[in-house]
Amino acid sequence: MHVGLEVLAAQDFRNLETFRIEPGPRFNLFEGRNGQGKTNLLEAVYLLSAFRSPRDAKQGELVRFGAERAVVYGEIVRREVKRTVEIQLAKEGKKVLLDGKVITRMPSSFSHMAAVLFGPDDLELTKAGPEVRRRFLDRATFAVWPEHLLELRAYHEALKHRNRLLRDAKVRGVALDPHVLDAFEGELARRGASVLMRRHLFLERFVVHFAEAFRQITDGELTATLTHKASGFDHADSHKASGSEAAGRDFGVAAMPSVALELAAALSRARASDAKLGWTRLGPHADELDLMIDGRPVRAFASQGQHRAFVLALKIAELHRIHEAHGVYPVFLLDDVSSELDERRNALLMETLQRGGGQVFVTTTDRRWIRVGDDAMRRWKVEAGVLSAE
Ligand SMILES: Nc1ncnc2c1ncn2[C@@H]1O[C@H](COP(=O)(O)OP(=O)(O)OP(=O)(O)O)[C@@H](O)[C@H]1O
Ligand SMILES: [Mg+2]
Repeated sequence: MHVGLEVLAAQDFRNLETFRIEPGPRFNLFEGRNGQGKTNLLEAVYLLSAFRSPRDAKQGELVRFGAERAVVYGEIVRREVKRTVEIQLAKEGKKVLLDGKVITRMPSSFSHMAAVLFGPDDLELTKAGPEVRRRFLDRATFAVWPEHLLELRAYHEALKHRNRLLRDAKVRGVALDPHVLDAFEGELARRGASVLMRRHLFLERFVVHFAEAFRQITDGELTATLTHKASGFDHADSHKASGSEAAGRDFGVAAMPSVALELAAALSRARASDAKLGWTRLGPHADELDLMIDGRPVRAFASQGQHRAFVLALKIAELHRIHEAHGVYPVFLLDDVSSELDERRNALLMETLQRGGGQVFVTTTDRRWIRVGDDAMRRWKVEAGVLSAE
């Protein structure tokens, strides 16, 4: 059964000439030299899933230089139902048509097509600060439970309230009313507990897929771990590398009331120091994912190839986690990863992908990197924005 993108078409999108292609159900390879339009092509596919650019590009940047508007169109088959998505982009804004009808609210992407992208920018995941990892975690959790986004927003709303009180106290010398703070912190802690619960439920299974994917890509030479450090529940604030870790703690549904109480107590204890800062230091907005290879922090010690392997394993785990939740693999978009891995890792990556299911779009500057069974693969050349099937 064909699940995925059956037709992809675009007009005046980035540097791409008007095209219409029929991707296959498994591997789709786009080969071309630097600057020919490969990343742009993957961006078009991603847009059909998330209705926004993965690079957070502005609408106008997506429209071909000199053109007024761009269109990206896709026909998606899922559970034997075919849906069409059309995105019209112009400098003034964008219009999304689902099955020909304009939609104003974004449906959850897995309702039509989920996509997981791995591109060069994703190396930030292991190299940059904790915010990037939280965003990854929350986006992936959202792909499993769309309500996570609302819960997260509600939490940030409550966080803003407490921060405002603290800032007012600091800047204008307004005294902090402990009863008001009690109420605000109670609300903040309850909302925080549901954010923690979702992240926890997501990670519980995700880490299993992650460890397995990393083991496969590195042929079992190294062990990678990912640990959720829930701020307010561990020693993350004292920057201890080890210590009581949140992984051993239960943030499940049944534990929510006690998690909320604990978080409220931690906030209450932090009042004096937060008042000095003028903002709230601990809570889910300060969570971290600790990434280790063989017990050492990735950020400090990993080689380039190990960073790559780590991020790839995160993405492959995301595919499996979403598949596990919804019974359908997201479309996997792999932007030029092979050139950064050695030959052996590459072969292992291809094996890993072949074992998994789902539709894959791969770009490369050199097809020798991409070795999967030929009959499973469709290929295109990308040259100066022109796609030609082979
Ligand atoms: N709105 C636009 N209109 C026309 N051309 C654009 C637009 N946006 C980007 N481009 C051009 O598209 C070209 C191809 O970009 P793309 O990132 O897809 O290349 P690539 O094939 O992925 O290259 P690399 O192998 O170096 O990653 C670039 O030269 C870029 O300047
Ligand atoms: Mg590129």
